[in-house]
Amino acid sequence: MLSALKGFSRGRCITVRRYRQSDASVLERTIREIGENVLGHGLKHWMGPYEDQRGAALTAEIDGAPVGFACVEEYGDGVLLFHSDVVSPSRQGRGAGTALTLVRMAIASPSEVSWLGLLSTEHSRTFYERFGFAVEGESTRDPFFKLTLNQMAVGFSETLRDAAEGRLRDEGIACPQDLHYV
Ligand SMILES: CC(C)(COP(=O)(O)OP(=O)(O)OC[C@H]1O[C@@H](n2cnc3c(N)ncnc32)[C@H](O)[C@@H]1OP(=O)(O)O)[C@@H](O)C(=O)NCCC(=O)NCCS
Repeated sequence: MLSALKGFSRGRCITVRRYRQSDASVLERTIREIGENVLGHGLKHWMGPYEDQRGAALTAEIDGAPVGFACVEEYGDGVLLFHSDVVSPSRQGRGAGTALTLVRMAIASPSEVSWLGLLSTEHSRTFYERFGFAVEGESTRDPFFKLTLNQMAVGFSETLRDAAEGRLRDEGIACPQDLHYV
């Protein structure tokens, strides 16, 4: 399944690290540039998970510049939630979103986590299908964000964790050492 992601960084130097407060201005600009058509109404709420530090927030850099952001959070009952993924529009399609997704898979512990879940927008659904996520149930219209959201999930196992680690290793992308907590 993850073998389809071979060569996603295409020689670029991608690193993933913990989100820092000093990334806030780039994150804010990224959210603004992606805009309400994709992210829905209430753009400032996309900053929330990065500010209140639930779970862990990550930053992807390409050639040393922060370009993408993503969060991961324990949801309970063996579910780990991926959320708030945004990559700067001018840097999309260069592997940062893939690296952020694979790192979150690689830091999860199969003994604690049975399912990975997320809410995708119509824009991003096919991106997450590349990683094995499948839509569960009907799409719902979120009244607050005025956005159609798909609940997606994939069963998590050692096989998936190892495949994610393998893809990252092939691309020379290290998992942040301080993130092996879930
Ligand atoms: C979805 C998103 C996070 C993906 O990040 P990215 O850095 O662009 O993704 P990658 O470069 O790793 O993409 C890998 C592949 O997926 C494809 N892809 C990227 N975004 C896609 C999308 N929205 N739909 C379908 N395919 C997509 C890329 O073209 C690339 O394909 P290729 O390997 O055949 O060239 C990013 O496009 C984004 O921020 N979108 C707007 C915000 C959003 O929708 N976030 C999700 C909220 S749930």
